[in-house]
Amino acid sequence: MRGFKDNFPPYSNKIEAVLEAFRKISSLYGVAFVDLPLVEEVDLFMRTSGEDSDIVGKELFSVARFSKSEEEKEKSKTWALRPEGTAGMMRAIKENNILNEKKECRFAYIGPMFRYNRPQAGRYRQFSQVGWEFIGTPGPEIEAEAIIGAYEFASFFGLNFELEINNIGSLEDRKNYRQELQNYFEKQGIEISSDPIKMVDKRDKFEDNFPQIKINLEDKKNFSRLREILEKNKIPYKHNKFLVRGLDYYNSTVFELKQNGKETQGALIAGGRYDGLMQQIGGPATFAFGWAAGVERIANATQIEKKHQVVALVPLDAPDYAFLVAAKLRKKGINVKIFWGKILKKILEQADKQNIEEILICGLEEQKDNIFILKNLKNRTQKRVELWNLG
Ligand code: HAM
Repeated sequence: MRGFKDNFPPYSNKIEAVLEAFRKISSLYGVAFVDLPLVEEVDLFMRTSGEDSDIVGKELFSVARFSKSEEEKEKSKTWALRPEGTAGMMRAIKENNILNEKKECRFAYIGPMFRYNRPQAGRYRQFSQVGWEFIGTPGPEIEAEAIIGAYEFASFFGLNFELEINNIGSLEDRKNYRQELQNYFEKQGIEISSDPIKMVDKRDKFEDNFPQIKINLEDKKNFSRLREILEKNKIPYKHNKFLVRGLDYYNSTVFELKQNGKETQGALIAGGRYDGLMQQIGGPATFAFGWAAGVERIANATQIEKKHQVVALVPLDAPDYAFLVAAKLRKKGINVKIFWGKILKKILEQADKQNIEEILICGLEEQKDNIFILKNLKNRTQKRVELWNLG
């Protein structure tokens, strides 16, 4: 299936490592996990990402109730497989009155997202995101905290990446910028095919006189404070004046973490402030800042994978004894895989192929003495272990 991936080891071990690191960093930053539906109403994404964003305009998968009647099918076609997690998170926070009790909260999520992309390297139709959404707090401090968390998370994987930040100001600032861009494009004879700001998001070369966004005083102040915090915490960054993001809901600070040499595939991690989103869906004005990382994009780039340390247990002619020995070992927290074959040579070959170093042999001979033989394939050593030693 084009654009959909079947993930087996060793690749799935990389995915596991990404998720494990994300869970770790989330608890270090006091971020609680939530689990949300994979479908939302289409209207939610229209209102938040914008009708002319790529993810709504071109990439949404709609979900209809199966019915033989065309009329029924038509009626049910109001859901979409979620293309991203932020809008659904805000919908859920509103619907469950989470902020009424908490005033501020920080949530993490892990899960599949769906976008009808043209399949290409690092761009899938189903992919997984891990993300943080910090809700209810204004100011550059919380932004810096979230960005530093993203930076540390990416650093774990030994990748060569760059953090880019920008500030895209207020609604008013973007309205002015849009007009300025429109004038510029017209003067240059460039066809205006969509929202001019989204055209900036898609562009990778900028002439010297290409318009830059002019932002209000407060955002200017916040942005220099954000830069100051990043510098004090030794987080290297680049101010990319043309970083605008392709979704409508952002304001003020935006950022992306890009793998060097892979700029064309898009970012590893991306996010920003979206203080207007809650109002766009009919809720009260709510401060919000967050980011999401593409799990596969990180897995594709890293050499790190989750190691599954396991010992091979070979029962040969004593299957009942094998259950007993395996139970004792597992109780001690040792990972045991029982190889149920009968031919020792074949089992040793299989174990070797699976990079298993320790082999425990516990046939009838061993059962008589209440022992097993521990063979280390790497060191080529062998010893007898008394069962009572395991407790
Ligand atoms: P986004 O930039 O659309 O932002 O996606 C975030 C990340 O998801 C990307 O940087 C990339 O790693 C990954 N990604 C996106 N599309 C694909 C794809 N087709 N295949 C593989 N990976 C992909 C958002 O989704 C926002 N919700 C981020 C956010 C959270 N902003 C605030 N809070």
